[in-house]
Amino acid sequence: MNKDITILAIETSCDETAAAVVRNGRTVLSNVISSQIALHTLYGGVVPEIASRKHIEKINVVIEEALAKANVTLEDIDVIGVTYGPGLVGALLVGVAEAKAISYASKIPLVGVHHIEGHVSANYIEHKELEPPFLCLIVSGGHTHLVIVKDYGEYEIIGRTRDDAAGEAFDKVARAIGLGYPGGPKVDKLAKEGDKHAIAFPRAHIADAPYDFSFSGLKSAVLNYLNSCEMKKEEVNRADVAASFQEAVVDALVIKTMAAAKDYHLDKIALAGGVASNSALREAMSNACELSGMKLYYPSPILCTDNGAMIGAAAYYEYLKGTRHGLDLNAVPNLRIGER
Ligand code: KG4
Ligand code: ZN
Repeated sequence: MNKDITILAIETSCDETAAAVVRNGRTVLSNVISSQIALHTLYGGVVPEIASRKHIEKINVVIEEALAKANVTLEDIDVIGVTYGPGLVGALLVGVAEAKAISYASKIPLVGVHHIEGHVSANYIEHKELEPPFLCLIVSGGHTHLVIVKDYGEYEIIGRTRDDAAGEAFDKVARAIGLGYPGGPKVDKLAKEGDKHAIAFPRAHIADAPYDFSFSGLKSAVLNYLNSCEMKKEEVNRADVAASFQEAVVDALVIKTMAAAKDYHLDKIALAGGVASNSALREAMSNACELSGMKLYYPSPILCTDNGAMIGAAAYYEYLKGTRHGLDLNAVPNLRIGER
């Protein structure tokens, strides 16, 4: 029988200090997340310098808690997995330095993980039957990608945003209507009280790039709408704005994802990243998949936003493929998907 592979995974690419213990890529023994959201809310967004300092303060405690909750010690760990990009360089460096130190001191192999590949791999945790190939829509605060997952760790990007990421658009619109940071979950909640057909916001069509996205025009349309209401001294129905904006984002995401799945003959679609927990996106994608006879997968909300478990899942498949990193592993803030 093959030996179990137990991975200690570390994630510090943005504003969550996270560590997890994951067995064989799919079984989560612990998943500890120390969120800095409350701190950054004071400034209306993530302040990189503060994020790095907080990671330094929290990283050891979070790792110790992850090991304790999993009821293991470093002696039981076969691999250290760590996010080394993309993300905020100072934030990434904390996790990478920590992972290298543990790897060196305990002689445990080190595997660097791409943050976005981690988001994709979050789907493997709760859907034990999910295996490549499948189409994945990755929608986070910093990225919007349509990717064909050809095999474990093998990706082909077929679409991407030309400007703002979907989560970024949610955060900016939330700020404009006074909801604060992080905006996505707040827009999602308020939209439930609004009429999604109240305001006709635009959907971008990009010639010759049917799977690319653009959200900056939509964001400007929302800001123009708010400005014109203010000039005309008309009261703004914030719930209608939230619902109509969200509908425009979801519409674009669903139409392009479904078109790509059909064109590439893929009958399995997965959602990944923070925006994958959006209730309207989940509902619209579920309906579209049901109509087309396709199977839809998405992680629980806690595994959609940044966490260590998804890094452990991705690290496992990288480890099986033979990926090993040395003590020269560095943070790569603009690491591209599929790059090693
Ligand atoms: O994946 P993630 O945790 O971080 C990045 O890697 O960027 O995603 C965070 C993003 C934020 O922009 C946040 O507003 C958005 O995901 N988000 C949502 C929801 N929950 C989180 N957007 C829309 N609806 C939600 N329910
Ligand atoms: Zn993320």
